[in-house]
Amino acid sequence: MPGTCVIGLQWGDEAKGKLVDLLCPQFDIVVRFLGGANAGHTVVVGDQTYKLHHVPSGILNPGVMNVVTPGVVINPATILKEIDALLARDIEVGANLMLSDRAHIVCPWHIAEDQVMNGQPVQGESIGTTLRGIGPCYRDKVGRSHAIRLGDLYSADFRERIESIADVKRRILSGLSGQEGGDFGLDPAKIYEEYCGYAERLHKYVDDTTAFLLDAVDAGKRLLFEGAQGALLDVDHGTFPFVTSSNSSGVGVASGSGVPARSIDRMIGVAKAYTTRVGGGPFPTEQDNEVGQRIRDLGNEYGTTTGRPRRCGWFDAVAVRYTARLSGIDCLALMMMDVLSQLPEIQICTAYELDGEQIDRFPSQVGDLRRVKPVYETWPGWESDVTGVRKLADFPAGARRYLDRISELVGKPIDVVSVGPDREQTIFD
Ligand code: IMP
Repeated sequence: MPGTCVIGLQWGDEAKGKLVDLLCPQFDIVVRFLGGANAGHTVVVGDQTYKLHHVPSGILNPGVMNVVTPGVVINPATILKEIDALLARDIEVGANLMLSDRAHIVCPWHIAEDQVMNGQPVQGESIGTTLRGIGPCYRDKVGRSHAIRLGDLYSADFRERIESIADVKRRILSGLSGQEGGDFGLDPAKIYEEYCGYAERLHKYVDDTTAFLLDAVDAGKRLLFEGAQGALLDVDHGTFPFVTSSNSSGVGVASGSGVPARSIDRMIGVAKAYTTRVGGGPFPTEQDNEVGQRIRDLGNEYGTTTGRPRRCGWFDAVAVRYTARLSGIDCLALMMMDVLSQLPEIQICTAYELDGEQIDRFPSQVGDLRRVKPVYETWPGWESDVTGVRKLADFPAGARRYLDRISELVGKPIDVVSVGPDREQTIFD
């Protein structure tokens, strides 16, 4: 029963959606196990581009089952919009989609809290969340008293829950924002009615996904786990507090999905040939200059979910070596290799200098990460178009050396290289 997992090794946006879409035909089930509408997975099929937030990328492959598990936080309005957009383009969304009744749902107060909290800097800087209510929803999940799960939409006391939670939330929001007596758009009767409408439409997708997946494992089905965000945004192991609110590295697969880690026998780590980051927080190899702007333009580095320009910089082998080990990665998929083709010179960060000492471990404290100076190797660019390359041997010598060096520094083989958005622009070793 081989299970495979695709994990982002940087700060998200590593083009995981493209890889998952390509791998889908080899699998029976695609599983999404963390995050929510903060994720934006772009998949290009022919001349069509699809942007998915909650729905697993397997939805574009007929015959594949798509499962959203307890570790995901679902915004019912957003997922219904996503489903409607797929249906409008004649993509089947019916018995091929299952949503966990254990998944927590994002409510209007979570979005209001995200907005209020995001205006308040943490350690001198705003986290710069996607404002999708993700952190507040996970906070309520862990806090338990004010949480609502998808299955609760169908319980007899749902109206009462909405009324009592909305009341508490209005008081919390007044305190947080300093706006005494504000109602923050939280009218319980309206929210109840709205969410009952969502409940009715989502009903056919809601089920116990944990039981379904455990049965699938026993039956020898092939499972593909689709990571979201990236390992450096992991709440326990990333650049805390500038992280998302779930375990986005390989460690989160079992807890988020309910499938034991030992059922997964292949972990693929996805990284870009350079680095990007959206939102606040340290980024040692950031190029806040013309080079960064060039990478942003060439790679069209603007957020799928928020449209924000992404911060861009050089490949950081210290960070990726750390997240590859943390996530138990077997091999790497290196994406966006074509973007570097036009640069006359390319740098790779091989170590950090911290307080005059050279280190090769990834610091656990953001204060240290802010102070490190990257130690770079400088490489001549290959300066030729690689978008038509279909075999590793056909890459220009400079590009091949670059791939070899990254593999050596990270300590993992590179099994996949992507040279453009289309399915065909992918080289499997
Ligand atoms: P949140 O997940 O909306 O709370 O945002 C927390 C941090 O994670 C912010 O810096 C976001 O920009 C970042 N983030 C969240 N989701 C993604 C993603 O899918 N790609 C890249 N960055 C993300």
